[in-house]
Amino acid sequence: MGIEEALSAELREKLRDDLLAADHKFILELPKVELHVHIEGTITAELRWKLTQRNGTPLRIAKNGPELQSLEELQAAMDLLRPDSSRVNNDEERFQFFEAYYEGFECLKTKEDYFDLAMHYLGHAATVNVRYCEIFFDPQGHTSRGIPWNIMMEGFREAQKKAEKELKVKSAWIMCFLRDMSPESAMEHYKAALPYRNIIVGIGLDSNETDRPPALFDEVFSLARNDGFKLTMHCDVDSKNAHEHIRQAASVVAGKGLDRIDHGLNAAEDRRLIELILKRDVGMTLCPWSYLRHTTYAELGPKIRVLYDAGIKISINSDDPAYMEDCWILQNMLLAKHLCGFDDKDLVVLARNAVNISWASSAVKENILKEIDLVYDRFHPAQ
Ligand code: ADE
Ligand code: ZN
Repeated sequence: MGIEEALSAELREKLRDDLLAADHKFILELPKVELHVHIEGTITAELRWKLTQRNGTPLRIAKNGPELQSLEELQAAMDLLRPDSSRVNNDEERFQFFEAYYEGFECLKTKEDYFDLAMHYLGHAATVNVRYCEIFFDPQGHTSRGIPWNIMMEGFREAQKKAEKELKVKSAWIMCFLRDMSPESAMEHYKAALPYRNIIVGIGLDSNETDRPPALFDEVFSLARNDGFKLTMHCDVDSKNAHEHIRQAASVVAGKGLDRIDHGLNAAEDRRLIELILKRDVGMTLCPWSYLRHTTYAELGPKIRVLYDAGIKISINSDDPAYMEDCWILQNMLLAKHLCGFDDKDLVVLARNAVNISWASSAVKENILKEIDLVYDRFHPAQ
């Protein structure tokens, strides 16, 4: 696949603005469930600047980079990270993304910081009618900097309570292990998180996938399933051995395979993987804006459509909006519609898929499903 055919950063921004300028009232008002957003991927330049100023912490785009002195310098450095059609090396881009992403964690020190971070996302979610979300967090990126668990988790818990009460956005957390760290570290973190299990609904796996297959983490995922957690893992698009990783995630890990797969778009290229996913009814969380940065424009829509038309329960989500042209769930849904030619009925299917593959209680699911139907009927009154 030629990355040289992917859209440039400027064209992606133009596409985003064009999609927002067109009528998007139905998608905006559709009640939403978001299942794939990294809380640390929502640290925008503005939020990072605010927290850095408050804590007096140094501001860098990468660990050994020069110290940045202003919000404008940070914005310019983040802009430079954006993959461009002229930058051909996918691996190098991924490396730079992860370097900047983990450096971004440095602004988080106090319970108030974790609270502000979660409220920043939940506040945005409320404006685009997200009713329920399951949010990823990467504890190893915080404990490795000496942040105590209670600082992180109590900040998250307070934001969760406030958002539910004041913004009517319900939420739960998915604890992700960093797959480029050891399975032993994952196990250690799993055990340390158990006191907070009443706000953690599931366990995930993210970070750099190269040579880190799902099966490597079988022990901790099996234990988590036995303990009642739901399970998911990233299968990043076009990563090395993508098909084998999807096969393990769908049918091998924790005895029979996971409950969901994050990304996994390469399944569209292999009928056997599609059958496997359908047979086990594994839900998939897609983030089209993220793929637009690496995949050719012409290929992306058809691949998403293959999964959708096969009847796989795909949902549309945002991933790391602060690093992806400020594209949140709304922009991702607009892009999916644009690329796949989805009509409002299809968008309802996608919204319902997200509800159905979520790990919310039946009561929460039923309420959101009813609300989706009401909004559809309001926009499409019977003749
Ligand atoms: N962690 C945060 N963003 C990620 C991504 N896009 N892929 C894998 N791990 C991640
Ligand atoms: Zn992700």
